[in-house]
Amino acid sequence: MEKELFFMRDPWVYDSQSEQFQRPDSNLGFDTRALHAGYHPLGDMEQFRAFVPPIVPSMTYPYKRFDEIPYPVYGRTKTPTAALLEKRLASLEGGEACLTAASGSQALFNLIFNMARPGDNVITTLNTFGEGYKQAATIFPERCGVEFRFVENPADPESWDQEIDDATKLVWVETPSNPTLFVTDIAAVGDVAHSRGVPLMVDNTTATAALQKPMELGADIILLSVTKFLAGNATVLGGAIVGPEELIEDVRWNTTEFVGAIMQPFDSWLTLQYLETLSMRMERHSLNSQKIAEFLVDHPKVKQVNHTGLASHPQYDLAQKQMSGPGGLMSFVVEGGVSSAAIVMDSFQLICHAVTFGTSRSICMHPATITHEHMTPKERAAVGVDDGLIRLSIGLENVDDLIADLDQALGKV
Ligand SMILES: Cc1ncc(COP(=O)(O)O)c(C=O)c1O
Repeated sequence: MEKELFFMRDPWVYDSQSEQFQRPDSNLGFDTRALHAGYHPLGDMEQFRAFVPPIVPSMTYPYKRFDEIPYPVYGRTKTPTAALLEKRLASLEGGEACLTAASGSQALFNLIFNMARPGDNVITTLNTFGEGYKQAATIFPERCGVEFRFVENPADPESWDQEIDDATKLVWVETPSNPTLFVTDIAAVGDVAHSRGVPLMVDNTTATAALQKPMELGADIILLSVTKFLAGNATVLGGAIVGPEELIEDVRWNTTEFVGAIMQPFDSWLTLQYLETLSMRMERHSLNSQKIAEFLVDHPKVKQVNHTGLASHPQYDLAQKQMSGPGGLMSFVVEGGVSSAAIVMDSFQLICHAVTFGTSRSICMHPATITHEHMTPKERAAVGVDDGLIRLSIGLENVDDLIADLDQALGKV
């Protein structure tokens, strides 16, 4: 693929003259698009005149006549409600098109399964979420013959360049990474990938488009776990990819069609409601997590704090440049390894021990035994997944209550 092929068009907006959603030159802001993109009560599903977009739960769409193919046909690949969510997500990320998936992990699987063939390779790092690592380290190499190369020094663009060859189909960056908040320079890695004719995919799950716009920095494809901040309260499981329409429709009809499915109508509809408050939530997540990071960094029982808003973060300047806030995901290492982590986590009264993040209520999780247990101890060490590492998803509570909970739990160690 030549560099010229990587393009980004203006996001979807409603054009009242043509009564269609288009991408004319529009200066609608992010928050306006979070509320309006993809749906106008007087233009779409006009028969309902519904202020709130209707849910269409049907899984199949009957033929009127033998030779008139309905659109959509069947709910594995397209429904009106998921299509609306897809338009909104594409608009928020600033991409041409979007395809949802049953989860973020499935979105990743579908994208790579569609793009790579046996003998091809994908370039990434060990700074990825647990199931992403497992797909890269075992599922794809062992079952599909697709090699994954883990860049040794992801802070150095040269290190990415060294791994790319003629069989490279994709460069995949997760930034900031889960769970250690490593920040990768999207523009620099994008330049390297494009100079070798390879597209760049950025997993924007942890920051969301409210805080980071990878497509403006050169990303061609965005991966999202909708499950996390986008939905925001652990009631939805879903994922999405955003990118050039040709690629997205190729994945839809040549992979999702066979190993589906897109997000279900009710989940899509719920997500549309939750997206309306995305940027306000991300602001509050950011304010709360910043105060907690500042509290933890001075705590005598805490060895290290991973938070992109701390000046001690190794890529602090880069994080300031490419993100407009730290978001709610952070992690810290407690003195005393796994046994101390267990004491702290069992002592929380407000912060819940559960496997997800991005929720309105705060959550903690132990990556070394839960999400990153498939990595070898050496690999975990390379990315800072210490035995004492506790991942925190800072919610929307009053921050003083969270600090008090952390303080009393750390006091038990
Ligand atoms: C950064 C990131 N991307 C993608 C995913 C996958 O999302 P899901 O849990 O919806 O499969 C996760 C899950 O933890 C994640 O942390």
